[in-house]
Amino acid sequence: MRADGRKIRIAGSGISLPEKILTNADLERMVETSDEWIVTRTGIRERRIARDDQATSDLGIEAARAALADARLAITDMDIILTATNTPDTIFPSTACWIQKGLGGPPVPAFDVSAGCTGFLYGLILAESLILSGAARRVLLLAPEMLTRVTNWEDRNTCVLFGDAAGAVVLEESTDESGMLSYFWGADGNLADLLSHPAGGSRLPASAQTVADRKHFLQMKGNEVFKHAVKRMGEAALEALKKAGLSKDDVDYLIPHQANIRIIEATGDRLKLPREKVFVNIHKYGNCSVATIPLGIQELYTEGKLHKGSILVLDAFGAGFTWAAVVYRW
Ligand code: ACO
Repeated sequence: MRADGRKIRIAGSGISLPEKILTNADLERMVETSDEWIVTRTGIRERRIARDDQATSDLGIEAARAALADARLAITDMDIILTATNTPDTIFPSTACWIQKGLGGPPVPAFDVSAGCTGFLYGLILAESLILSGAARRVLLLAPEMLTRVTNWEDRNTCVLFGDAAGAVVLEESTDESGMLSYFWGADGNLADLLSHPAGGSRLPASAQTVADRKHFLQMKGNEVFKHAVKRMGEAALEALKKAGLSKDDVDYLIPHQANIRIIEATGDRLKLPREKVFVNIHKYGNCSVATIPLGIQELYTEGKLHKGSILVLDAFGAGFTWAAVVYRW
């Protein structure tokens, strides 16, 4: 929200979830793990896996169609197509351009944002600037992810964590009290090595050696990520609330990035929120990276839990490291 009260709002939202479910019991047959370990350490019971013939943009296109229908708008009403993802269809062109092609979109600007699991919130913050500056009347923001395509299915430390999904929102200037009230964001590239997809870029171009070394898979120091996520997500939420002139008592729902139930609960505790105000769906979908927050918004919305005036805190952390929180009045 600007000093003069101008802000953006979500005019429509949609999601896409693959049908195939991979349960913890399935994983027990693939690596040395147990349902009990996965549930107590992460909160995850099952996750969705995209079909072999789907790419990240395909999930994005499905979510975009749903969001456009919800907003009662067409792709031709969009002025910019912005995609947050860590698993692009191709290094270039951008996934946003593949989605533009798939939707038969007009020749408006289309580009990707790379910000780890924080990408959807970085996209919201960027869209606010684009809309309130007059560069765009409406932005289609997509958050499709297929981390299972860069998952090493022989590494029990990481393969139990991730799932595929996409979310999409249509954003425009708000004409009433609803909309994005404040945000807080940051990044620390000094910690980039702790969570990365090492090969396939200019530093380590694809070769037989990079494939043999399994460097085309996501690599993570889980317990380091965990510590930083708890600290940064708590801080970001409190800072964003302060910027909105609100307190934790005003919050109806915290929608945290769904990476680990213990990170989610620690962030809720930092805000001293009762558990019923802390949104959780990690048991159903695992960590879907950029898609977790739009999935959360959609679930609360379709279940009729969001009412005019409801205050949401959206809060994420991811590779980079990056972090952000957004305060939104429904
Ligand atoms: N099944 C059984 N045992 C396992 C498994 C498994 N699937 N995975 C690890 N273990 C073992 C380890 O080998 C280790 O055994 P050891 O003590 O004999 O060496 C033990 O469990 C403990 O391992 P830790 O890594 O210390 O376990 P921790 O409690 O930290 O949990 C986890 C690991 C779940 C990964 C946690 O650290 C976490 O969630 N971290 C944050 C992840 C995250 O937020 N990622 C960011 C998003 S991704 C993105 O941005 C693209």
